[in-house]
Amino acid sequence: MRSSRRLDLIPPYLFAELERKISEKRAAGIDVISLGIGDPDTPTYPAIVAAAQRAVQDPATHQYPSNRGRQDFREAVARFYERRFGVSLDPQTEVMPAIGAKECIFNLNLAFLDPGDVALAADPGYPVYTGGPLLAGAEPVLMPLEPALGFAPDLSRLSAQTLQRARLMFFNYPNNPTGATVPDGFFEDVVKLAGEHEILAVHDNAYSETTYDGYVAPSFLATPGAKDVGVEVFSWSKGYNMTGWRCAAIVGNAEAISHYWKLKSNIDSGLFEAVQLAGIAALDPAVDAEVRAMNEIYARRRDLVCEALAQAGVKVKRPQGTIYIWAPIPDGFASSAQYCEHVLERAAVVISPGGAYGRSGEGFFRISLTTPDDRLLEAVARLREL
Ligand SMILES: Cc1ncc(COP(=O)(O)O)c(C=O)c1O
Repeated sequence: MRSSRRLDLIPPYLFAELERKISEKRAAGIDVISLGIGDPDTPTYPAIVAAAQRAVQDPATHQYPSNRGRQDFREAVARFYERRFGVSLDPQTEVMPAIGAKECIFNLNLAFLDPGDVALAADPGYPVYTGGPLLAGAEPVLMPLEPALGFAPDLSRLSAQTLQRARLMFFNYPNNPTGATVPDGFFEDVVKLAGEHEILAVHDNAYSETTYDGYVAPSFLATPGAKDVGVEVFSWSKGYNMTGWRCAAIVGNAEAISHYWKLKSNIDSGLFEAVQLAGIAALDPAVDAEVRAMNEIYARRRDLVCEALAQAGVKVKRPQGTIYIWAPIPDGFASSAQYCEHVLERAAVVISPGGAYGRSGEGFFRISLTTPDDRLLEAVARLREL
């Protein structure tokens, strides 16, 4: 059965392929430790689960939700943005739920790109920044994240032709996969460039609540002028251990959100109201302590991994945010994919090849910290031995 030419344009999704390999090995009795996907290993916090239980028992949540979302959900997001980021949002027009950031980022491509258009994508970056534009019939143009610029792209290197065709720009801090936090002045530069070239700036804010060493991640929307040119996609997945719930929100430019709404009303039927009510519970200040405790666990794991890697002679920068360690592959391997394959075959440890996140990720691998300490240490010991 032939798939569309559109679908032929993109490789199989990185983690779909990894999951297949892992289950093959596990079925063969091999003890595989996966440090691949960034999927929190700790349960969703109890207050959120309790709110969801109450919500599920209420038949009022059982019918189709509206794509615009519940009023109380939109108000809770607006309250949270005010207290957490100092950003004021109109709950009527500047907030809308999404079925996870992945859905939102993908659908923004359908809402804003035509054939011939360009989407500027951070490189390395979340794979949907490139797969989304391709599936929308447009062209992703990679913006290499420069280590010398603190893993920001050099916006001055974008050509006039590219900027003329660009309609979207995807960027993300704290950054997956590099772990970088936003360099000073970068959000301001994006606002300027997006304003000059009528580009919708899309800040993927999947990791703002997962930070360490006292670092507090800002919202892109706190940058003067950002709401005129952009939106931010906030996700509950990582900060609240809610990857399975599929809860996110798009916030910011009202016109952009209304286009997204128009598209979505033709594609899906909104976010389950019980999940919206769980999302509201997560944003309550009482849950902040749970988030802090979780971050202490990740910070400890980060230190364990970084120390073990240092002992093996691998130098890495300790990230102040995200759940990832970004490290160079050892000499003697042709590509990050070859190294990761070797590690899986010889040490039964899954790590992500940097090249899967874009050309500029080549030569690196990513370790996710979402595995209990003992397994994480066992995995790093296996890597060291190898
Ligand atoms: C940068 C980035 N954006 C978006 C997502 C997806 O988030 P969600 O679970 O809300 O779809 C991820 C998940 O790993 C991510 O790393």
